[in-house]
Amino acid sequence: MAQANGKIILLGEHAVVHGFDAIAVGIERGARAHAQVAAPARLQLGHLSAVAGDGSELSTAYEALLTELALGPHHVQVELELPPGAGLGASAALGVVIARAVLELHPRAGSSARVLAAAGAWERVFHGNPSGIDVAAAERGGCLLFSRSQGVRVIPVARELSLVVALAGAPASTRQMVEQVQQQLDTRGEIVQKTLEAIGALVVNARLCIESGDLPGLGQLMNLNQMLLAGLFLSTEGIERACAVARAAGALGAKLTGAGGGGAVVALSAGDPESLLSAFHAAGLPCFATRVLPSSGGLAP
Ligand code: MEV
Repeated sequence: MAQANGKIILLGEHAVVHGFDAIAVGIERGARAHAQVAAPARLQLGHLSAVAGDGSELSTAYEALLTELALGPHHVQVELELPPGAGLGASAALGVVIARAVLELHPRAGSSARVLAAAGAWERVFHGNPSGIDVAAAERGGCLLFSRSQGVRVIPVARELSLVVALAGAPASTRQMVEQVQQQLDTRGEIVQKTLEAIGALVVNARLCIESGDLPGLGQLMNLNQMLLAGLFLSTEGIERACAVARAAGALGAKLTGAGGGGAVVALSAGDPESLLSAFHAAGLPCFATRVLPSSGGLAP
């Protein structure tokens, strides 16, 4: 049984598409898969089934992944442990876990570079122009700084990060949200470019906060990041409301995570996440807690 992580982007989504650094953490909730060599190529995702050549987006992505691996047709069964379209890296977790499950049957063919290449081919079908951060977090886990030009750098975590994720709105399409930012770049380029640069500057400082254990500083930077994302029309009423609920319950910071336009918010807790979980529950928002452990960047469920 192969496994892959979901992810939370702490800061820097969208700016990362345009070459800036972003910070992501892997979360243990992700996807699990099991593969066997069988023709025709078939993918079973929960109750959804895709067969090579059926013309669906799912089968197109699966075929792109198999073509990249060049190991022939396989039958893969996948279980997703994350809500899709919420900004928690569901599609990247699927791409990584499917590639891993296939490669596990061909031990001499496997490497993390091959998993990343195959999952990247899968992601491009769904997202058009992915930066690669979701796939990197799904494959690597831990706390990561990522950019298109430099790839992954591990961030040492000085103090545990206690995070609470709440589902603040309906799923949104990452492709559409990324295209929307590109359209804004085309029509009001100077101000959007400055916003992306400002997000990049927040990320530089957030990395220092994580490395030095300055959690209040990190929370403030998350709040500023949320303001800049809202300025790019990526926030929604539901996201703003969920962020306000989190801050009122004592969160050090809160922001949308992932593509925005709906989906999830992430809040940084000052310690015990219980008060944030209760506040989200009281507001009727599904939520869960996760934490990033010091130094190792490893994660508890
Ligand atoms: C989506 O999880 C993150 C975005 O920055 C898109 C990407 O990096 O590919 C919105």
